[in-house]
Amino acid sequence: MHELIEKRRSPRAYSTRPVEPEKLRELFEAARWAASCFNEQPWRFIYAAREDKENFNRLFDCLVEKNQLWVKNAPLLMLTVACGTFAHNGKPNRHAWHDVGLAMGNFTLQASALGLYVHQMAGFSSDKARENLGLPAGYDPVAMVTVGYLGDIGQLPESLRQAETAPRSRKALDELVHYGAWGTKSGLPA
Ligand SMILES: Cc1cc2nc3c(=O)[nH]c(=O)nc-3n(C[C@H](O)[C@H](O)[C@H](O)COP(=O)(O)O)c2cc1C
Repeated sequence: MHELIEKRRSPRAYSTRPVEPEKLRELFEAARWAASCFNEQPWRFIYAAREDKENFNRLFDCLVEKNQLWVKNAPLLMLTVACGTFAHNGKPNRHAWHDVGLAMGNFTLQASALGLYVHQMAGFSSDKARENLGLPAGYDPVAMVTVGYLGDIGQLPESLRQAETAPRSRKALDELVHYGAWGTKSGLPA
């Protein structure tokens, strides 16, 4: 596996070191070059740095309490947004969220290449995000995301500390990959 994929993980302990604007630009640039259905590029991003209290707090306020516990230390917080309709024909874009995910895949690996870490979250209120951040009709909140450098896990409450050092696990390939039709073994070498 490529080293950038291997070292990627979703941390909860961040350093206070801010994300340099030039590096942040590289992350968005990587996201921008993702593939998308009809090249519609349905991804949108709203971000704020922690030192910009007013804007950071508007995003922070959308998170569930369990995420707020650790996100309060993250130097950068973001909401990803999907445009749900194709611009070229006005029909629903069934792959918009898929494409936002692709953009975030690029974003995350570019972050890995720059020594940064990303943690995506579903634990937030979409309604609050729409309202707090003024999303126009037709745009849907997808995920919230922290970005930053790794910090000391000692800053986390005990309940969260364990997860940071616990072994990471994944389903076996055979459970995920089928050959030819559903239910057949993948045929991949062991
Ligand atoms: C769409 C999405 C939503 C997630 N939501 C949360 C969340 O609300 N809170 C949280 O602490 N982690 C969240 N995670 C992080 C996952 O728990 C994490 O990616 C998973 O456990 C695998 O760990 P790893 O990313 O370190 O490999 C989310 C990840 C994704 C991709």
